[in-house]
Amino acid sequence: MKKVIIIGNGAREHALAETLKRSSQGVEIFTFGGAKNPAMFEMSTEYEIGSVTDLNHIKEFAERVRPDFVIPGPEAPIAVGVSDMLGEMGIPSIAPMETVARLESSKSFTREILNKYSIPGNPKYKVFTSPTGLQKYMEGELEGEFVVKADGLKGGKGVKVVGDHLADAVEGTAYATKCIEDSGHVVVEEKFVGPEFSLMSFADGQTVADMVPVQDHKRAYVGDKGPNTGGMGSYSDANHLLPFITKEDLAVAHDITTQVMNALREDTGTKFVGIMYGGFIVTKNGVKLIEYNARFGDPEAMNVLPILKTDFVDVCEAMARGELGGMPIEFEKKATVCKYVVPESYPDKPVKGEKIEVTDIPEGVKTYYASVDQREDGLYLSGSRAIAFVGIGDTIAEAEKLAQSAVTSVKGPVFFREDIGTEALIGEYVKMREDLRG
Ligand code: GLY
Repeated sequence: MKKVIIIGNGAREHALAETLKRSSQGVEIFTFGGAKNPAMFEMSTEYEIGSVTDLNHIKEFAERVRPDFVIPGPEAPIAVGVSDMLGEMGIPSIAPMETVARLESSKSFTREILNKYSIPGNPKYKVFTSPTGLQKYMEGELEGEFVVKADGLKGGKGVKVVGDHLADAVEGTAYATKCIEDSGHVVVEEKFVGPEFSLMSFADGQTVADMVPVQDHKRAYVGDKGPNTGGMGSYSDANHLLPFITKEDLAVAHDITTQVMNALREDTGTKFVGIMYGGFIVTKNGVKLIEYNARFGDPEAMNVLPILKTDFVDVCEAMARGELGGMPIEFEKKATVCKYVVPESYPDKPVKGEKIEVTDIPEGVKTYYASVDQREDGLYLSGSRAIAFVGIGDTIAEAEKLAQSAVTSVKGPVFFREDIGTEALIGEYVKMREDLRG
């Protein structure tokens, strides 16, 4: 029997726990989370509530449990060095050490690594440490098509794009100046246009093994409109491509991730162990890199983990031991569609403390709890994405139907994106690719 600590209490961590529980080795789950996830609570031998960045508290819990390994779900504990702390205790962590976790926590670090090692995929970019020349760079070199990226973890709110969050270079300069005041520097880069996809890979510092590519929809409203969220839903296809990407696109993304993993080892002397989650985009000039995360995506984890055929404990142990090379990692040839149910007025002023009812979830749909509070008389909204439902089928259309019937069965002050995984929305991305690349 293996003992595993999961750090975090969202739908992604619920999916991690469920996937570990499928292991033929037998797994006892120990959860360390900021709040009680009702499903993880049921699955856990012990459930410790605490701040996921409180390393002393996590250390005490790990000392008591002495797990075989730990999987930190969210970015925050990884960025503050939870893997370094566990490493000193002799406990493997399925997440990178702080120095290479900068791949997610520092936008400038990642751009500089690609640049220094001549890895393709970077936009034109410049790191500014003073406001001098900001506006000139945006209007001149980048011809008014730019993105401003604050350094550090900003929960998806640090990136501002011209034509979207910023009207022009004057607004861009003001935001970039504020970023410099906050952290000492800012990245200004060329704006890429095209359909985006997520490619998450298991990495052991020597080998990269890809999961199935996923398209995540971050905007709150139908038609990919409205404010950015943590992700309203996502889908993957049975052929392990996406309708708007080719095998060649995937090979380019894989090659970028492999080169980046090697460059990190070379540059820092530390191997990247954990999940390299690349946000890629198909542009008119080929596949480019938007950013990396150093963890599983949420919702992307809920697309790929339920269809992982290989024993997840074996995969985690192979990552920790540096033995991924030659290990066949298989996923079922199934399509998946994940839809989140979120509180009304999410993300700006989400309704909180209201009761919801979940009934008649169709057979074959996976239910993953996120920000919900289980009370004696039922489930209550806690102010962020509440429950993710994942339909799994032979086609995206079949999986979408299942996910859609699950979200519509939730009663209460909530909403969801009915268009995620539909032919109409996917068709827009296919057309976008055709318009860009033929
Ligand atoms: N899918 C967005 C994220 O996990 O950051």
